[in-house]
Amino acid sequence: MAFPAAFLDELAARNPIDDVVGQYVALTRKGGNLFGLCPFHSEKTASFSVSPEKGIYYCFGCHKGGGAIQFIMDIENLDYPDAVRFLAKRAGMEVPDDRQYESTYRQKERLWLLCKDAARYFHAQMKGDAGEPARAYFLKRALSASTVTRFGLGFAPDGWSGLIDTLTAKGYTKEEILAAGLASRNQSKGTIYDRFRNRVMFPIFDVRDNVIGFGGRVMDNSTPKYLNSPETVIFNKRRNLFGLNIAKKSKSDAIILTEGYMDAIALHQYGFDSAVASLGTALTEEHATLLAKYTQKVVLIYDGDAAGQNATSRAAPMLEKAGLSVKILRMEGAKDPDEFLRTYGADAFRALLQKSENPAQYRLQSLQVKYNVKDDEQRVAFLREAASYIAGLPSAVEREVYGTRAAEIAGVTAAAMKTEVDYAYRRKEAARKKKQNAQDLAAAQSRQPVVRGIRYDNVRSAMAEEALLRAVCREPALLREISLTPEQFSSPLLGKLYAALRTQQENDLAVGIANLGDEFSKEEIQHVTYVLQKSAEPISDNALRDYIAIIAEESAGAEESGEARLRAALARKRRKEI
Ligand code: GTP
Ligand code: MN
Repeated sequence: MAFPAAFLDELAARNPIDDVVGQYVALTRKGGNLFGLCPFHSEKTASFSVSPEKGIYYCFGCHKGGGAIQFIMDIENLDYPDAVRFLAKRAGMEVPDDRQYESTYRQKERLWLLCKDAARYFHAQMKGDAGEPARAYFLKRALSASTVTRFGLGFAPDGWSGLIDTLTAKGYTKEEILAAGLASRNQSKGTIYDRFRNRVMFPIFDVRDNVIGFGGRVMDNSTPKYLNSPETVIFNKRRNLFGLNIAKKSKSDAIILTEGYMDAIALHQYGFDSAVASLGTALTEEHATLLAKYTQKVVLIYDGDAAGQNATSRAAPMLEKAGLSVKILRMEGAKDPDEFLRTYGADAFRALLQKSENPAQYRLQSLQVKYNVKDDEQRVAFLREAASYIAGLPSAVEREVYGTRAAEIAGVTAAAMKTEVDYAYRRKEAARKKKQNAQDLAAAQSRQPVVRGIRYDNVRSAMAEEALLRAVCREPALLREISLTPEQFSSPLLGKLYAALRTQQENDLAVGIANLGDEFSKEEIQHVTYVLQKSAEPISDNALRDYIAIIAEESAGAEESGEARLRAALARKRRKEI
């Protein structure tokens, strides 16, 4: 375990779950539990519950759950040690010296420092004698001096060791330079050389203003056009966005999401200070969650080509799922915002922003372009595809409004369109219900965990194991009366939890999942939370004995063969008769 158990125990005690969650979610009390709208998926009725008594939260909708540490990991986008640190700080506690943790954190700090020094080096090179080509390039791209400074743009000269020499002189090791992704290794000679050469450099910052990586662009038409830092301990493309460190301070109500570094930079230069860009990869759920921390509204600007349209139709629902309201800006007269701004200026861009459409409008508009509605056959195809899309909109009002809109476009009556949409809607609903029923049935039949990747091999034993664990969390003293070993549990995960609870009890710590260490993965925590949130009635001694017997019996059955199984079956029968 990375942190001492006693520390985690104290941490859990000083960070009551209702208190921690309450800072992010409005909670109302219902009986012993608190309920609110789940911060991890969008919903209108509260299915997110918090049990102060058990120290856990659980969402019946998306099945996210865990203790306070897990909650902070999810909502603040932190890894386990950083979430612990966060809670310790919140409760005014000192984080004990823990070597493993200290060393990863220290390594991160060291790499942040290293990348900052590298950014300074690139910037100085850009300003110095060697930087002439870079300055000329920025001029050609119409970047002002203050933009160059604000984004800390730089230049990696054409050599093999300029950066390495500078960093080595500052005391960084080869290994550190490699770990930061700033050098590559020559496999045969074992030497290292600068990764970025003869490129203009775009430092990439995280939201806390640490330099975490770089994008490097060639100054001519050679390829690859951009070279980015590889993934490192501090650089994760799925979780960071270029420019967010600046955009998060903007007064604008919407964040503008673009595809290119140059687009985000140009937007800032023209006064649109809430622009960000993804790091050369598709938008991820993590990006959406990250954005939702800083804004309620996102304007998407992707290129107008097919790839851009695909990216848009993938990104929009993802952003909406994170609770963001989405507008889509259609580029006109230029391939990207950078080119547009240079050609038409800020006012024209503001007009485009005004015209940006919500995803439904955007989709209809795109369909209109795709089909020639003057042609009867294509008109029917347009209406079919429009109806299928509109039927998937969540509210009846939206379906009505956009149904009418599509009818207008195709020149048919709103009533005819409504029939088409209703039909598509019923078909979709029927398919959804069928799928839901099949799922419910499968879940009921197998009583398998809802978390992917965790399966019970022996459902009978697992149900007893679940019930037993619920009972001991409610009444830890029971643990003293149970002589089962963790190995007797059919589910390795439940056995692991049982072992952890025993250890807590033996060490006089609070028994529960709120203060578990990081030997449990996110999925595992989620599943055990699911198990423990089910209501636990006080159980009778008989019931407890039954559970123990079942577990012992099934584990014996797993090892021994025929005769033992028979004996177990007889015992079972006797118990039923009693
Ligand atoms: P300019 O050509 O300088 O205007 O850049 P741009 O940002 O407009 O480029 P483009 O629209 O072609 O690409 C958008 C983004 O995709 C870039 O900002 C990069 O993050 C990424 N990208 C483009 N080309 C490459 C490449 O060759 N390699 C990698 N790894 N990423 C690229
Ligand atoms: Mn461009």
